[in-house]
Amino acid sequence: MRFHIHTYGCQMNVRDSEAVEALLVAAGHVKAADEADAELIIINSCTVRQKAEEKAVGKAGNMIAAGKITGLMGCAVKRMGADVFKRLPKLDFAVGPRRFGLIPHLLNRIAAGEKGILEVGDDEVPTGMDAHPDVQRGGTSGMFQSYVTVLLGCDNRCSYCIVPEVRGHEYSRPAKEVIAEVKCLAARGVKEVCLLGQSVLRYGIRNKAWEPGEPNASGLTEAFPRLLWELNQIPGIERIRFTSAHPKGCTDELVRVYRECPKVCRHLHLPVQSGSDRVLAEMGRHYTRAEYLAAVKKLRDFDPEFAVTTDVIVGYPGETEADFEETRTLMEEAGFDNSFVFKYSPRPGTRSAALTDDVTTAEKERRDQVLLADQESRGQRRNEALVGTVREVLVEGPSKRNPKRWSGRDSGNRIIVWDVGENGEWVKETGDLAIGDFVSLKITEAHPQILIGVPV
Ligand code: 5AD
Ligand code: SF4
Repeated sequence: MRFHIHTYGCQMNVRDSEAVEALLVAAGHVKAADEADAELIIINSCTVRQKAEEKAVGKAGNMIAAGKITGLMGCAVKRMGADVFKRLPKLDFAVGPRRFGLIPHLLNRIAAGEKGILEVGDDEVPTGMDAHPDVQRGGTSGMFQSYVTVLLGCDNRCSYCIVPEVRGHEYSRPAKEVIAEVKCLAARGVKEVCLLGQSVLRYGIRNKAWEPGEPNASGLTEAFPRLLWELNQIPGIERIRFTSAHPKGCTDELVRVYRECPKVCRHLHLPVQSGSDRVLAEMGRHYTRAEYLAAVKKLRDFDPEFAVTTDVIVGYPGETEADFEETRTLMEEAGFDNSFVFKYSPRPGTRSAALTDDVTTAEKERRDQVLLADQESRGQRRNEALVGTVREVLVEGPSKRNPKRWSGRDSGNRIIVWDVGENGEWVKETGDLAIGDFVSLKITEAHPQILIGVPV
């Protein structure tokens, strides 16, 4: 069948969609040119906020109406369970986040006339992640960057978050398997890997990732730093990123890895959610404002240019103006290089859903705008400090906004663009610069979200 996959949500979903694509191709299906050309549409859904879920369900409805064979996968399926068929009675199949490996089999059942198949089990070892050699080899986009899921699920249970509900308990893939996957990616020409986990620094905590007696040249005792150290040794891999982090994971061993492993990028996405100790405690985040700031300081003491980005929720139940001000001052003290602000959205079944969602939509909107404006000026200031520095940039290709410019990222995940000249001569004529190459750029201009440079 000719298929097309629509992906909503986070990087984890992007990676899962790539795995499904690899499984379908291995089963003899063909990627469609676009949505219109496809007979089968699969929608990978997110449910982290109500709006995200509605988008995916709405899209599925449209595809069913367009006469496509339609499947819904991912987080929203797990949250809705059998109710998904109340919303979408003509949906052909629905699979939860840990069951996507079954999709090729479900298609056989659908071809035999079945409809409305639901698969939402919580396999400890998820089907599809490691079950198929093509997936294990990283059946991803075939480009120079690739995601690698290392930790599934989440055991943190923050009061507002639906993720543990829908993605199940934590399961760390064996280090041996991850290392083999990254070696295969390197052999395919991948230069940058991004290791994924909801709280990736908890790798190897709930279940062992390393077998006793596996050689340990690094001498590191913590599972995740040790994994980074091993991946840093793989020839061909030039950059290692990971997301998302929790301040408890910012250990001395992690900093040692930053010091000793040049491929490990100097950027951490460290969601803070709030700057108020009272709200943090209510959220069940297991750190205080001071502890959070200490983690940031540890990274910046090691390297003042270390990039720290974050997620913040505004309008959590009971969030007062004073709480909000604490968030503002924390963000300033932490000097975030970038931040993502979310308006609180109650999710059924979470602890905070029992609380009154008492901050009005207008007030959430206002707080959102205030934090965005703060980030604009802070981003500008932080980026101005980089003018005149030379940065190693991995080339990603023509800039989306202006095709006369090319764009790439530095180790801190900062977007840097440069002029390629009237006819793209800087790309084509001087040294065959191509997507996936490294280039040294001297920063000439700073903006809140991007830097402009010239090749040196
Ligand atoms: N409402 C609003 N934002 C949320 N997030 C998670 N759950 C909710 C919710 N119920 C945000 C957090 C998280 C990001 C991925 O989404 O900031 O870090
Ligand atoms: Fe959305 Fe969370 Fe699922 Fe990612 S893990 S797709 S953010 S609900």
